Amino acid sequence: MSTSLFNLQRDHIAHLQHAYAEILADQKLDSLAIYSGHASTHFADDHAPPFQTYGHLMHWVGLADVQHSWLIIQPEKRPQLYLYAPADFWHLPTQLPEEPWVTEFDIHLCSDKIAPPLTGKTAVIGDIGRLTSGAQLASKADVQPEPVITALDELRLFKTPYEIACLREANRLAIAGHQAAQAAFMGASAELDIQLAYLGASRQRESNVPYQNIIGLNAHAGVLHYQHYDLSAPKQRYSLLVDAGRRFRGYCADITRTYVGPDAPSVFGELVTAMQGLKDALVKDVAPDVSFVSLHEQMHQQLGEILVANNLFKGTANQAVTEGITRAFCPHGLGHSLGLQVHDVAGLRHPDGTPAPAPEQHPALRLTRTLRPGMVITIEPGLYFIHMLLAPLRNTDLPINWQLVDQLAPCGGIRIEDNVVVTESGFANLTP
Ligand code: GLY
Ligand code: MN
Ligand code: MN
Repeated sequence: MSTSLFNLQRDHIAHLQHAYAEILADQKLDSLAIYSGHASTHFADDHAPPFQTYGHLMHWVGLADVQHSWLIIQPEKRPQLYLYAPADFWHLPTQLPEEPWVTEFDIHLCSDKIAPPLTGKTAVIGDIGRLTSGAQLASKADVQPEPVITALDELRLFKTPYEIACLREANRLAIAGHQAAQAAFMGASAELDIQLAYLGASRQRESNVPYQNIIGLNAHAGVLHYQHYDLSAPKQRYSLLVDAGRRFRGYCADITRTYVGPDAPSVFGELVTAMQGLKDALVKDVAPDVSFVSLHEQMHQQLGEILVANNLFKGTANQAVTEGITRAFCPHGLGHSLGLQVHDVAGLRHPDGTPAPAPEQHPALRLTRTLRPGMVITIEPGLYFIHMLLAPLRNTDLPINWQLVDQLAPCGGIRIEDNVVVTESGFANLTP
């Protein structure tokens, strides 16, 4: 571990100690017990799907796979971690990383699944619904108090320098995967082989990815969360969309790239270049006090201009926006907060914790905040040829160039996604 990351993590822990003490004092609590959660096995089976530690516990320890464990926070006291470490010859025993948080905590290795020791006025947060001790805990403590969770979510929205360093490293590791995926595409690989190339180069197994990688060839690039990997390569290669990440110390990269295949019409290559330009322009507009909803609307305006400039729409850019045409070509939001969760917490709240839902016209937008230094967000404009969304427009007299739409449909779509931190003076792009 580099000395700078070591020191940054120590500062991060000190920051959490201070912030939690304030939140507990505000809520008149003596202690907070955070449960890691645990995986459930499939019905009538003894195997479980991949698991992710509850974000508020991961915030302290950066471990994405802690289960059956408790963290107790009390102001002015060392954090107490009750880490489940069974005597188990089936698995490798729990090992602690060589990181400064370990020396800042009292760590109790527990061979059993314990109930946490609660003292004073206590709140309990985490997924305790399936714990046999759940009802007993609820009788002794305030369970999932909303003001506490809202305050902790708000704390997570603003990343410390340590967290930004982790997100930057997650990006660096993910980009190696993206380069390998591009090379595999140039070598005419199938989706599964592109996925395997990505995992190998980004040094991770599939169960550790922060979200299921989207590897879409041709029309699959237009399926927003395409969830399969074809085993054989298509005969024609129009396009590849790769939306794939990597965790580092719990923190997630979320990066998308779109590549042009040898069989694509030339206009598709021009659209990819235009969308890269749009992504770059929107990244440059990231700064403190910018409204993310306005930035999202700006994406639609510029998408309208791209549709007009590339002869997909024969009206004006304004008309493309006001008639909802850009929304049919891009139904998702411009981006979201990024951190320990890919779609991180507190994106749809005001700073005081009251709800700030997505605007009615843009229901998929996951971030409605005014940007502030320390926020980390994605910027991911898209342009897709999705039959289900475009079909209703065919029966109108809107001047959409259907011949060109049909020619581009086998290319699926385009998304370009970078991870960006809001700084005091503007932005820093974490995606190399
Ligand atoms: N990878 C999911 C997203 O971009 O939001
Ligand atoms: Mn994203
Ligand atoms: Mn993504």
